[in-house]
Amino acid sequence: DIINIKKRGAFILFEGCDKAGKSTQANKLFEYLRNNGHSVELLKFPDRKTKIGQIINAYLANEYELDDKAIHLLFSVNRWERMKAMKNLLLSGKTLIVDRYAYSGVSYSAAKGLDLNWCCSPDIGLLSPDVIFFMDLTAEEAEKRGGFGEERYEKKSLQEKVRKIFYMLKEKDSDKDSLWRILNANQSVELLHKRIVEYSLKLIEKCSQLPLKEDLWK
Ligand code: TMP
Ligand code: MG
Repeated sequence: DIINIKKRGAFILFEGCDKAGKSTQANKLFEYLRNNGHSVELLKFPDRKTKIGQIINAYLANEYELDDKAIHLLFSVNRWERMKAMKNLLLSGKTLIVDRYAYSGVSYSAAKGLDLNWCCSPDIGLLSPDVIFFMDLTAEEAEKRGGFGEERYEKKSLQEKVRKIFYMLKEKDSDKDSLWRILNANQSVELLHKRIVEYSLKLIEKCSQLPLKEDLWK
């Protein structure tokens, strides 16, 4: 008899500070996988299209003020409101490429001075990524890339703190073998893309056999 075991998709996450090239690499990986016969979808947080996403967008554009804790919770809600759909897509075999997630959520809020553990708590139990491609760039290098300063948080001093907290979150995951892949974002787009593709193809194969985990920071 043929036992039909459905293969799940991989949850591939890009994280990093502003201007590190996350969206560029996420888009390129998406195009590559789609053009090579993979079932794949590209998602981005914050998802500015939902009702909550519209509030977040207004906040980031400095059109609307909110308490630091209130906006932190809205970013988290903006992930929770997508969880069912993401879970169903992964279980149906789609690989998800995600541009920012809870690691950004905690890093930016904690950089503003909120308690790190408090920041983690609303995201506990979200789907866990299978890999985090951390696009690492110093704040000096990011500043040189231009376009900095358009949105709230695009300030060098804050970005430096954000980067430090990303590394603290990586430490928290030190028991999780090769979850974090630190990439020097100050390399050519094509070279980075090549590395990311190679790793992702192996990961997609490996993950298809593993159960989906809804255990972020548990
Ligand atoms: P974006 O530039 O990737 O669209 O993200 C917008 C800003 O929102 C960026 O400065 C990072 C920040 N952010 C948070 O503060 N919390 C979050 O949960 C997420 C996803 C992003
Ligand atoms: Mg930005």
